Amino acid sequence: MSRFPKPAEGSWTQHYPELGTAPVSYEDSISPDFYDLEREAVFKRAWLNVGRVEQLPRNGSYYTKEIDVARTSILLVRDGDDQVRAFHNICRHRGNKLVWQDFPKEETRGVCRQFSCKYHGWRYNLDGSLAFVQQEAEFFDLDKDRFGLVPVHCEVWAGFIFVNLGSEPEQSLSEFLGPMVTALEGYPFERMTSRWQYKAPVDANWKLYMDAFQEFYHAPVLHSNQTPRAFSGPALQAGFEAPYYQLEGPHRVVSTSGIRPWELDHDKRKRMEEITSSGLFGPWEQADVGPMPPGVNPGRREPWGSDSFQIFPNFTILIWSQGWYLTYHYWPTRYNSHVFEGNLYFLPPATPRERVAQEMVAVTFKEYALQDANTLEATQTMLESRVVERFPLSDQEVLCRHLHKVAGDWVEEHQKTKARR
Ligand code: FES
Ligand SMILES: [Fe+2]
Repeated sequence: MSRFPKPAEGSWTQHYPELGTAPVSYEDSISPDFYDLEREAVFKRAWLNVGRVEQLPRNGSYYTKEIDVARTSILLVRDGDDQVRAFHNICRHRGNKLVWQDFPKEETRGVCRQFSCKYHGWRYNLDGSLAFVQQEAEFFDLDKDRFGLVPVHCEVWAGFIFVNLGSEPEQSLSEFLGPMVTALEGYPFERMTSRWQYKAPVDANWKLYMDAFQEFYHAPVLHSNQTPRAFSGPALQAGFEAPYYQLEGPHRVVSTSGIRPWELDHDKRKRMEEITSSGLFGPWEQADVGPMPPGVNPGRREPWGSDSFQIFPNFTILIWSQGWYLTYHYWPTRYNSHVFEGNLYFLPPATPRERVAQEMVAVTFKEYALQDANTLEATQTMLESRVVERFPLSDQEVLCRHLHKVAGDWVEEHQKTKARR
């Protein structure tokens, strides 16, 4: 699918006829059976982002990633040759989880020369090969070469580390990402090493929370108390409309035209924002991030505020015009729960003032995210009542329509492939 200008007639949704305009079912977000299908058809087939290369700064740096939806834990490591590798986090002796600290289900990170199993002391090199077996002579014809860690397909794009849990990925990572996403190459992600993290369990299906971040129809309503009434009152009356949407393959983007809080009247700004010169949209002072690659602001909207790239299945990169970016991950844990992770990335602050501005963005973001998460837990419980089966979506909710369609298509396609085998 290609880039569209704002449709002269019709709507964004109607430019993608395969989506239809009919009310949609949310059965895919309340059905345990559908969730089981998604595990195989989506999360074991798609490339999944599990972090960034800056999390592996040196040889021997590692971290673990719990991927509950695929019932595994992954170990990411930078080996002695600077290669980023991924393995299933399981010891080949008797299946203990290889790397964990005090709590087996919690993620961990560190730096080491070898991985040593806590159970019987088998040790593995950074490239996954089995280095040492305790009392090796007591085993029966044990060929150590055959007992290395089980590798996971791992590729890096623009510093983002992706894994694929399929036995053989159906596409390379760049084929999977496609031209809309790979056009972000050249964005200075690697310079934005000031990182603020936020993680929370949410009792709602992962797609419901993605929906809340891929439409802004709700923004003036749900978040109205987040801004002074002099701002939120008129905003609510005017409603909100994003100036650009684009779908490509399983991925999608929405751009906003951006509010410039520093240009607003005093009574429309929060006191804390004035003190810190910062807020939800970022520090008021524009960061010097150089020229943008062609993938940014794909609809060439001016003024431009942000692009939210929703990368299938569960990863979002949100680029802000103020010169910083956010990522979201939605890691499913059950059909009606997931773990939400938000990461904010800025250039390293050069002054205390810049640091405070970043902190203000982080806490403001967290407040907004809590407002969304709370609402979604309420939505989940009532969807599960199944009292209503079909829900009308507006044109601004075109990306929600697309996500649910793509998840359904992937499940259906996988079912067909399995039936053919
Ligand atoms: S399970 Fe790891 S050494 Fe026995
Ligand atoms: Fe929201």
